[in-house]
Order: sequence, then structure tokens, then C-alpha cells
Amino acid sequence: MAHIHFDEKTKAFHLQTAKTSYIFQVIKENYLAHSYWGKRVEDYHLLAQPRYHDRGFSGNPNKEDRTFSLDTLLQEYPTYGHTDYRQPAIHVELENGSTVLDLRYDSHTITSGKKPLEGLPATYTESDAEAESLTVTLKDALTNLSVELTYSVFPTYDAITRSVRVVNNGEENVKLQQIASFNVDFEDADFDFITLAGAWARERDVERTPLRRGTQAIESRRGSSSHQQNPFFALARPHTTEDQGEAYGVSLVYSGSFEASIEVDQLKQARATMGIHSFDFCWLLEPSASFQAPETVLVYSANGLGDMSRTYHTFYRERLARGEHRDNIRPILINNWEATYFDFDEEKLVAIAEKAKQADMELFVLDDGWFGKREDDTTSLGDWFVNKEKLPNGLKGVADRVNDLGLQFGIWVEPEMVSEDSDLYLEHPDWCIHVPARRRSESRNQRVLDFSRQEVRDEIVKRISAVLESAPITYVKWDMNRNMTEIGSAGLPPERQRETAHRYMLGLYEVLETITTRYPHVLFESCSGGGGRVDPGMLYYMPQAWSSDNTDAVARQRIQYGSSFVYPTSSLGAHVSAVPNHQVNRITSLKARGDMAMGGVFGYELDATAFTDEELQLVKEQVNLYKEIRETVQFGDLYRLDSPFESGNYGTLYVNRNQTEAVLTYMNTLGEANAPFKRVKLAGLETSKQYTVSGLEGTFGGDELMNIGVPLPYFYGDFQTVLWVVRSVE
Ligand code: DGJ
Repeated sequence: MAHIHFDEKTKAFHLQTAKTSYIFQVIKENYLAHSYWGKRVEDYHLLAQPRYHDRGFSGNPNKEDRTFSLDTLLQEYPTYGHTDYRQPAIHVELENGSTVLDLRYDSHTITSGKKPLEGLPATYTESDAEAESLTVTLKDALTNLSVELTYSVFPTYDAITRSVRVVNNGEENVKLQQIASFNVDFEDADFDFITLAGAWARERDVERTPLRRGTQAIESRRGSSSHQQNPFFALARPHTTEDQGEAYGVSLVYSGSFEASIEVDQLKQARATMGIHSFDFCWLLEPSASFQAPETVLVYSANGLGDMSRTYHTFYRERLARGEHRDNIRPILINNWEATYFDFDEEKLVAIAEKAKQADMELFVLDDGWFGKREDDTTSLGDWFVNKEKLPNGLKGVADRVNDLGLQFGIWVEPEMVSEDSDLYLEHPDWCIHVPARRRSESRNQRVLDFSRQEVRDEIVKRISAVLESAPITYVKWDMNRNMTEIGSAGLPPERQRETAHRYMLGLYEVLETITTRYPHVLFESCSGGGGRVDPGMLYYMPQAWSSDNTDAVARQRIQYGSSFVYPTSSLGAHVSAVPNHQVNRITSLKARGDMAMGGVFGYELDATAFTDEELQLVKEQVNLYKEIRETVQFGDLYRLDSPFESGNYGTLYVNRNQTEAVLTYMNTLGEANAPFKRVKLAGLETSKQYTVSGLEGTFGGDELMNIGVPLPYFYGDFQTVLWVVRSVE
């Protein structure tokens, strides 16, 4: 069955997923007008004729037709110059200095399947039957510049992807000043703008504000997707909730600087755009050259934000993440970072691993501090050679002993960085991102290696490969701990300096492609000071990410809740750490810490040798409970039941695919005197099935659990949690 239709008569394109329609049309003078994005329709006669009207101060590209202005027209990929005063999707500078561009429909092709994007991460198909793709080519007649808008429809995943490629078919150089990956003009602006904002250790707070006239935007100029904003936004109707109402999600598959903006115009129409940040960006496109902009993933839900998120989860888990770990349950790890920081030796590491084994954990991860002469964060990044003073038997010595205990061995690296105090920097001071004659700012005593340069990438790939081959390593935590400053490259001519940040990303993606395909058995976890690069671009290479350096159980409510707007649980690391918590100094129970961390890819990050017998027993119980439920948690459907951003409490439910098992996590954050009783309505179960609930006596119908709701215990004290397993009765 076709999912992309082109109507020769009306020149309309209709893209259909299981529940969504997306329609646009070639209109007069071959402009491309946006018509509709929303709930699936079969016919669209109502859209056949765009409406035109003569409006004051909205100019007319064609003087014969005063009713036609680009200033108010709903468009698919707008340009600057011919009467549209709103945010353009593309902005170029020509050799004569002009910046006017006039893109008109030229041709289109419809094919089955989906092609990979050149050099960039993107969603993919496993067979051509899974998707259909449409490429519409727009042309500027004067310059012969062509812009290819590619749409892929994944009918069963209920998602549509978009990307843009520019080809310079002309004879002149063109400077690309801005290129959005996505533009949609909505007919009205009756939406809330939902974004995921934050900071280091406070990532992905859900912010929701009504649109107002003018421009509202989110962005990162940091050279990475950032802790501060995530490359995602949703537009939701004011009354949209978790399970009702319209929501439109837009997610950018990119890990560098980005911008997304919503401009509400004079007619209260909303123009949404997203792509690489145009700030300090300029790409020189010589004749015959092309530029590929990253992909955006569009998800429409008529049934609330929960449905939108579940669509992203399944799609990203199955058709963005890759590799042999994609569909595998993830090992329960223990990481030594918060246990020892830089202060460890082989005996200490093995002692932690021994205790971890006693608690039935599966993987030991050696974090920062094993290389060069690194005793703190001032040295050695780039010198990826084991510190024999700390680890006289090398990585292999530790790994073998850890393996002998019956645990896998994993390692931390930060390949994109160099310390000023390192042999690598001494040898190659120009290998970092910098601007000649300007001071080089520091951040955590380190500089960003210039991955836009092939020789830099080659050397780092060589060094990291040697590490991975030096010991039986089955897991890698790939960290990145500072943002770019003084962005420039010694490898690029002056006219290409403003390409540095994007070329860095392309270089990073090339390195990740090389390393992850060279070591397919290794499970990679991305990290950037916790959650500074939790984005779809990284997810393509690494199926999981360290969600935050903040391991406090209460702070994790917000981090996990916000992350769940887009990212699947299988991609979000969550660890139990010691108390008082190192980031917020809060004391919570081991049970609360365990219950919250079991809502992600579970692990521990503390000195296990300090466990009392009682703690060790509880940890062992947590580990074994997680082994029972992890398939449901990591790969099930997630329902958000209570919001830390609204009620201040946290409720999440994971339901497995055949609705036979569910896991309820609830945290009542603050105790209250004489508190009312609480009940929480479950979701996603089968109405007619009978279930047991681990915290309650008896069996209950799915309908009761979802409509009447589960009575929660009376909470006495702060940070009280419930982790109940719901199982169907055979
Ligand atoms: C930042 C990470 O987020 C931490 O988990 C830890 O790996 C440190 N870096 C090590 O320097």
C-alpha cells in the first residue's frame, strides 16, 4: 500500500502513516505551500484551494496578483527576499553580496525504503517495505541552486522524517548562512511550546509555555547539543495532557549547536523551524558541491504527550539505535567514579568488583584516572596509555581479575579532549580547536581536539583502538566534558573557519562510526558530564547514555521524567550512589535510590566495599529484582502517571509488549501530616486480564487497575517510594 501519494491534478503530496497525515502542495508559480499536518485523513478536498487575500503591507512577488503574498502563505521551505518577512528556512549569500533566494518546485521522486544520510546519523529501515521516501527538488532559477527536501514515511512506527540537501549546480560560489532541517507553518498558534531545558546535573526540565506573537526559541551555541537545551520541542494544544489532545514533536538527529524557533506571525499562524544553529555558521558551497543538513523526526499524536513519547521510544530504540546491543537487555554495572574518583589502585578496584559480584552484578566499569599521569582533572587527556604506577599489570591485569570473578570489564575514555598538560598537546599544540593569536580558554583544564582534521581523528582512532585491544573490554563510557570556545581550525582556510563546529561534528561521527563498527561486541554508553549530549545523534552510535551526573534519587525524578519525553528507557543510565549524595548532599534510603534507578538502565556507582551486611543483602535483592523486570523496563511501553513538575511527585509505569507484566514506580517526595490517601490509575494493561500487584493482596482486573486505580500506601516521611510489579494471572 502506498504511503506517499501525489495527486497530478491538485499537485498535492499526501504522506500517510498509520495515524498521521502530512499534506503539502505545489501552488501557483510553483511555490510549495504547506497544507496540513495532523490526524490521518483519507480525503482532503477542503484543502484543494489555498485561500488568498489582499493584505496591507504584505507585498506581492507578482504585481498582477495583489492577493498573493509569501508574507502570509503557509509554506514548506520558505526563503528570504520575495515578500516573506518571517524566519526563512534557508539563507544564502551570493558572490554579488545579495541574500535573496527564490525556490520553486522543479521535480520529485517517490521511492520505497530510505537512503542513509551522507556522513550523518539518521533513522533507518531494515527492509525497503518499512518506509517510503519522497524527494522534492526546489530550484532557484537565477543561481541554479537546488534544494532537495526529503521526507520518509514510516507507516507502522507512525513517524515522518525530514532532511534537506543543497546542491550548487551553478557557476558561482554560494555561502550557506543558515539551513533548517525542518519548517512547518501551522495555520494557528493555539499551542504550548514544550522544551527540555536544564544545566549540568539538572538536565531536561520540562518547560511548557503558551505561544505568544513574535519569536520564541531554544538553542545551543556550545558546539554540542548541551545540558542547557535539548534538540527537541513539542507543540501541544493548551488542554493536551498525557493521554488526551494533540501534540506535535520535533526532534533533531544532531549533537552539535542547534536552533529551533517558533514564530507567531501577524495572522497568528505559527512557523516552526529547526536545524543547525545559524550563529557563527557559514558553509562555502563551491560549484558542484552539496551540503547535507541533519534529519528531523516528526511525530504527531492525537492522544496526548504520552502517546507521542511512546512513538519516539519505539522508533528510536528500534530504528535509530543500532548494533548488536540494540535489542539486548543491558548488564547491571558498578562504576568506580563516585567510589574512588581518581584515587584507586588495582586492589581497590578488584575489592569493589568482588562485592559487586557478591551482589550478583554483571559488569565492572573503570572510570576516569587510569591513563597518563592522571591523578586529578588537570592532566593527561590524549595520552591514552595506561598508568603503570596505579595499575602495574595494565588494564589487562585488572580486567582478567574482574573477569575471573565472573564480571565483564568496561572502561571510561574521553577521546575528543586534550589536556594542556599532556604529551599529545606538547607534540601538537595546534591540534585543538582555537583561533591563532587569541587566548585559549580552559574548561575543566582541557581543550577540544580538532576533529575536523583527518590526522587528528586518525591518531585518536589509533590510540583508542589500541586501548580496546589491550584488554577484554566489553563496555565503553565515551565522555566529553567541555564545550567549545574560540571556535576555529588550523586545518581550514579563512573562508571556511565558520564551518569548524559542523565539520567537528562530521569528524566525530566518522570516528564513532569507525570505532563502533570495528568493535561491534562492545556496548557503548555516551556521556557528556552526565547528560550534556543526550541526543538522537549520539543514540545512533551508542545505544545508551549516562543521563546525568546527578545521582540523587529525588533530583532523578525530574531528569528521568523529562528525558522520557523523547528518549527510550533502554538508552538512559541510572545508578544508585552513596549518601549523603555527592551532588546535593541529600540523604535518601537505599530502597528509594534503588527504586528510582530501576527506572532506567540500572547500576551502582559507590564503594561497594563499604556495604554493611544488611545493605549488601538489600542490594542483592535489588539486583535480582531488576534482572526479573529489566526487559519490561528497558523495552516496554512507558506511561507517565504523576509529574514532578506538576504534583511534585513521580509516577511511572512500564508495560511489556504482551501486557503480561508492568512495573510501577512511585515516589512521594515530601511527607505530609494527616495526608489524604492516594490512588494511581495504571495504563496500558489489558482490560480483561487479571493481574496481581506485588504490594497488594489478591488479583485485579486490568480495567479496575486502570479505571479505579491502585491504592498507594500511606506515606510517612520524605522520599517514600513504591516499586510494584504487576503480573497477569495465567
Ligand atoms: C563526567 C562524567 O559524567 C562522570 O560520570 C565521570 O565519568 C567523570 N566525567 C570523570 O571525569
